Amino acid sequence: MNQAVTKENTDMSAQLDKAQKSIDRLFATRNDRWYPQCHIASKAGWINDPNGLIYYQGRYHAYFQLNPYGSEWGNMHWGHVSSADLVTWRREPLAMAPTLEVEKDGVFSGSAVVGDDGRLTIYYTGHRWRNGVNDDDGNLQEQCMAVSSDSIHFEKKGVVVPCPDEKILHFRDPKVWKMGGLWYMVFGVSTPAHRGEIWMYTSNDMEHWTFDRVIYRHPDPQVFMLECPDMFPLEDKWVVCYSAMGLKPHGFEARNHNNAGYVIGSWQPGGDFHQETEFHLWDDGHNFYAPQTFQAPDGRRLVFGWMSPFTEPIPMQEDSWCGQFTVPREVTLAGDHLRCLPVREFSNLDQDQQSFGPIELEVNGSQNLVDDAQTADINMEIDLNKSQAERIGLEIHRTQSGDHTLVCYDDQLGRVVLDRHCNTYGDRGYRTAPVDKSSGKLKLRIIVDRGSIEVVVNDGLEIMSSYSFPAQGPRGIRLIAESGEGKALIDSLSIAKLDTIWEQPDR
Ligand code: FRU
Repeated sequence: MNQAVTKENTDMSAQLDKAQKSIDRLFATRNDRWYPQCHIASKAGWINDPNGLIYYQGRYHAYFQLNPYGSEWGNMHWGHVSSADLVTWRREPLAMAPTLEVEKDGVFSGSAVVGDDGRLTIYYTGHRWRNGVNDDDGNLQEQCMAVSSDSIHFEKKGVVVPCPDEKILHFRDPKVWKMGGLWYMVFGVSTPAHRGEIWMYTSNDMEHWTFDRVIYRHPDPQVFMLECPDMFPLEDKWVVCYSAMGLKPHGFEARNHNNAGYVIGSWQPGGDFHQETEFHLWDDGHNFYAPQTFQAPDGRRLVFGWMSPFTEPIPMQEDSWCGQFTVPREVTLAGDHLRCLPVREFSNLDQDQQSFGPIELEVNGSQNLVDDAQTADINMEIDLNKSQAERIGLEIHRTQSGDHTLVCYDDQLGRVVLDRHCNTYGDRGYRTAPVDKSSGKLKLRIIVDRGSIEVVVNDGLEIMSSYSFPAQGPRGIRLIAESGEGKALIDSLSIAKLDTIWEQPDR
């Protein structure tokens, strides 16, 4: 344990005060044109990974990687929000600031469990740059522990898993669970040979940890690090997931700078993981990374992803904030895939639902549905058998300038497309998701926020998360059908507004 712990805990409240003051200063200049209404984001500053997701003392807690000093990555702290129902969220005091020597350059990602003594226990990575400035010469990273009796005030316990080899370049992001009386920890490692691996440790007492095995090694030698690994059971299977650095794009897959996905297989404590499926992406959109799962009190497996703004330009950075989570999703098994659906509670935010009934649209026709939607929860079903149009879908965030993001079914590709080529702000480009056409129908649920779009395909068999930054003025939603011999047939289409998730407006 680190000798300086007691003094450092006193220092932490001073550091947290300083960080909160910075957030408040940044907030004074926050521009809300793209600031989310129904997604978790920091009041100001930069956020990345969801951390320490847990249900504790009657509330859901979501901590997150936070830079309170600017809207770019750096100075990693842990921010915190909580909710009684997964719908309405409350901002909590910042949870953790770097104070120990081993975390001098940041309190990095980690997870939370309810400890054997009933306290909320977090495991996270203490991070230092080897050269003191940046990662050109690699990192010094160790797994640390902190405890809290109220989810707000944390007492740091120092390092519990030191890095065993100074040639290891990355060693971070512990995810912990208990099973059969034993504690398990997995985290990501970049070996001296630059291979991406997930290591497993075990412990009887939560403080002393022993190396168990390399539970997963990425088969591709170009994949040099597996960030934010997670491992969890679903029915009789185990899912191993990670955020891969170094994966190269192929076809429609792995098009983002880094890519988060999973494999499904079997595992018994004390044994190896046996992979039984291919690698699948968690999400087919432009902006999804570092997801973390946790268990709700009713047993559901839930996940939050970080909508990672991988590619420049990142226009929200000018607005004193950057980064948001996805909506919380429930994860279930669907054959060799995971099904991801917004949690059912999310629909409680729906307001003023309007139904547009069945629609028959001429090819190259369009129909304005809503003149100005800051947020929307859209449900539509397209009859694929009876439609002949080549592309059928919605122009979202459509402003007078012609800017919009198109979400459509593309019959040439046989896939759902999210296309940002008509956007003035932010990275453009498109992403696609495969469609199971066996039922002859395509169900789309599209969650629109002020600066993002999530597309849920066929009840969560596929899902896409992308930022979309509308231009000035009212933000319309328009139905379109393009090219082909015939019509577009929409069986049903409804649009609701979404209420804010915040218990109180930011002040
Ligand atoms: C993933 C990640 C983690 C790390 C954290 C630092 O986005 O790089 O591996 O712990 O972010 O902010």
